[in-house]
Amino acid sequence: MTPERLQEVREAVQEADGVVILTGAGVSAESGIPTFRDPGGVWARYRPEDLATPGAFSRDPRTVWEWYDFRRRTVLACTPNPGHEAIAGLLLQRSDATLVTQNVDGLHQRALEEARAREAKPNDEPLPDILELHGNLLRVRCTVCRMRADHREPIRTEGVDTLPRCPDCGALLRPDVVWFGEMLNSATLEASFAAAASAQICLVVGTSAVVHPAAGVPVATLQAGGDLVEVNPTTTPLSGRARWTFRAPSGQVLPEILAAPD
Ligand code: OAD
Repeated sequence: MTPERLQEVREAVQEADGVVILTGAGVSAESGIPTFRDPGGVWARYRPEDLATPGAFSRDPRTVWEWYDFRRRTVLACTPNPGHEAIAGLLLQRSDATLVTQNVDGLHQRALEEARAREAKPNDEPLPDILELHGNLLRVRCTVCRMRADHREPIRTEGVDTLPRCPDCGALLRPDVVWFGEMLNSATLEASFAAAASAQICLVVGTSAVVHPAAGVPVATLQAGGDLVEVNPTTTPLSGRARWTFRAPSGQVLPEILAAPD
């Protein structure tokens, strides 16, 4: 990418009427969180059907919780990287910017909270919402009733009887993430597609773009006449439709693209 092309993308983002960013596991790779489908990724070491399906949880909730507890401890030990920080800066600057993420690690939220804390003036405004399509590792929900809550404490996985239980009805709690074979939250999905369809630019960052319906979000921008920017070291099914492509890590590229205007 020449300096002229980079400047072109930066201006296109600044001038766009509406920006959507779709992120995937690659945006957290530089924080030390493994992606799913890269060599050495999560699905190269574990079988999704053993750990990330409703059937796996009902067969063996202790093993599933053990794996989620391990992933929760991993993300709590990691910190947001310059890619998350650049996105957080954009969301705080622009009310017409929307973040849609497939990530369940909560690092975008932490970057937003840290960016707010660094602001020069005290600011009581609520932080912008992040559309988390696949849920969040640091939340739990009840397997029976509608209880949902933040939950950061370690999970006790010594036996089924030590697993976390619903404070309201006593049933088993589960991670508040979307498993294979489950529906995504319809309100989150609708809001994501609506934002994408009304944005002039969609940045697609660190996703293999093979998991649907998330991979359809950038297509909604294209169908409405907008442009795609792809940030990913490797090609994806969306690469051929991107107007601008950056084959480099998002922690390097996003601060350049999303730099505040001089
Ligand atoms: P994948 O593991 O499928 O893809 C990660 C992408 O990130 C790849 O295209 C990499 O080339 C790219 N990548 C790696 N390092 C990067 C970096 N430093 N900067 C930018 N890009 C980088 O992850 P997702 O696309 O997020 O679903 O996977 C989608 C869904 O599949 C996940 O949300 C998860 C998984 O099964 C559920 O758990 C429901």
